[in-house]
Amino acid sequence: MTVRKAIIPAAGFGTRFLPVTRTIPKVMLPVLNEPAIQFSVQEAARAGIERIVFVISRGQEATNDYFRPAPALESALETRGNTELLNEQRGISSMVRTSFVYQDEQLGLGHAVLMARDEIGDEPFAVFLPDDIIWSDSPTIGALIDVFSQHGGSVIAVRQVPDEAIPSLGVIDPEPLGDKVYRVKRMVEKPRLEDAPSNLAIVGRYVLTPQVFDALERARPGAIGEIQLTDAIDAVRAEQGAYAYEITDDHFDVGTPIGMLKASIYAAMKRDDMADELKSWLKTMVNS
Ligand code: UTP
Repeated sequence: MTVRKAIIPAAGFGTRFLPVTRTIPKVMLPVLNEPAIQFSVQEAARAGIERIVFVISRGQEATNDYFRPAPALESALETRGNTELLNEQRGISSMVRTSFVYQDEQLGLGHAVLMARDEIGDEPFAVFLPDDIIWSDSPTIGALIDVFSQHGGSVIAVRQVPDEAIPSLGVIDPEPLGDKVYRVKRMVEKPRLEDAPSNLAIVGRYVLTPQVFDALERARPGAIGEIQLTDAIDAVRAEQGAYAYEITDDHFDVGTPIGMLKASIYAAMKRDDMADELKSWLKTMVNS
């Protein structure tokens, strides 16, 4: 079964990045020189997803504009004969089709996903939380789509986390099915360490069925923010099942300044034109 469409919820306030997020969408903040959201869009495109719906708040249109052609810039690069940069720029707008819907009130992640319902229609879809960046040779969402093709239901990404991280994350109760795949028996949001059924925490990659929209709709009007995406997945689990795919690749949570800084350093370390200078500067910083 193919998954053609994805939702990227990006309408949150980004309070952990204030003051910069007063005017700049959090997802447009750079990991080195690429906006954070580009990593999710690239991952989607590499997995064959054709269409992405961003959920944004008013004033955050830059998030979608970024993925449109930039004719003035492109003709300037063409005139200068800077073919490499030109191709790179054209690649950004031709990766995948994008559109956006507004979430006018920040009523939570589940509500944000629901805002894209009409764009998705009656077919399975992927969700990317753009704060989660995964460095992997093959796109993580592609592995989730494979699990979905085999088992159906809802599929979520998980990763092993240290004990101290458990109380701030969503954790699954796993039944191993082999080869990094688990059946999810239950999901617990932000458990106390002693109540946590495992150290497998949810990462922001999902493949979901349209029945999840129904579960989100069923949330009481006015209190929909109280239904989180994990609650909706849990609600359809009894009928359709839920599965998890464990990632072991390098992962960053760029939803916090320190996480963003680490991801930027990691990205710079992978670049020949920066790694040596950065390493020697870091050494002097550590030793000072
Ligand atoms: P977060 O919980 O990280 O919230 O949302 P946030 O606003 O991005 O950041 P902080 O906590 O205030 O610093 C997880 C994802 O869900 C989206 C966010 O944009 C982020 O991608 N989201 C959250 C929405 O789209 N709408 C919401 O109402 C809440």
